[in-house]
Amino acid sequence: MHRTVQPRVLYFGTPVVVISTANDDGSANLAPMSSVWWVGRSCMLGLDETSRTTANLARTGECVLNLPSSGLVGAVDRLALLTGTPVVPEHKKRKGYRYEPDKFGAAGLTPLPSETVAPPRIAECPVHLEAVVERIHPFAEEDSGVVAVDARIVRVHVEEELLVPGRPHHLDADRWDPLIMKFCEFYGGGRNLHPSALARGWDMPPRRTAPEASWNAGTPQPNSP
Ligand SMILES: Cc1cc2nc3c(=O)[nH]c(=O)nc-3n(C[C@H](O)[C@H](O)[C@H](O)COP(=O)(O)O)c2cc1C
Repeated sequence: MHRTVQPRVLYFGTPVVVISTANDDGSANLAPMSSVWWVGRSCMLGLDETSRTTANLARTGECVLNLPSSGLVGAVDRLALLTGTPVVPEHKKRKGYRYEPDKFGAAGLTPLPSETVAPPRIAECPVHLEAVVERIHPFAEEDSGVVAVDARIVRVHVEEELLVPGRPHHLDADRWDPLIMKFCEFYGGGRNLHPSALARGWDMPPRRTAPEASWNAGTPQPNSP
């Protein structure tokens, strides 16, 4: 039987993208996101308008969309509650975010120069999509605080091991194991991979099968108000 419910988030499972953008002093910012869909050579990115990433995209019109494999879940989780915005917005403060100017250092990731845009790629990610912004649209209801960024991919770099042997422009779906965000939890190959700082920030219930899960026992949850 189906029930009518009001889930807090509708993230039914999308690949994680780590966006690199250039700050106004030329340094790099990184931000994980997963509200993205792809058509042809373009994509639409759903972004919080208070994020440093959004400001950088609006100012410079350039980014790299780095696609992490599931093995990079630890680095992505280290970025989860960080912002490159020096004055942390209230809605992020409440979730436990802090300002971090050195996201590469905080995540333990390595910058790699891009070929057509200023922001660097992330060496550890198997896929890098250099992109330019076409348009930035308002999104959802008025004052949603979210924008939709229409970005066009201008160069694609792929780790050689992901290519079909003898087919230099084809990716092997069986070899690509994307990091997936489902609701606020990290998955790869259909399995949960790592505790999620984002889920803590959003005060999501512990997973029923997680060793630390307490909701079956009826004990208070760690972040409950
Ligand atoms: C796995 C994951 C997925 C996320 N997806 C999104 C998203 O789709 N859109 C968004 O605006 N923020 C998303 N976030 C939150 C951003 O990472 C967060 O707003 C961050 O502070 C942005 O960094 P910045 O302010 O330095 O740009 C996600 C975070 C994680 C860990």
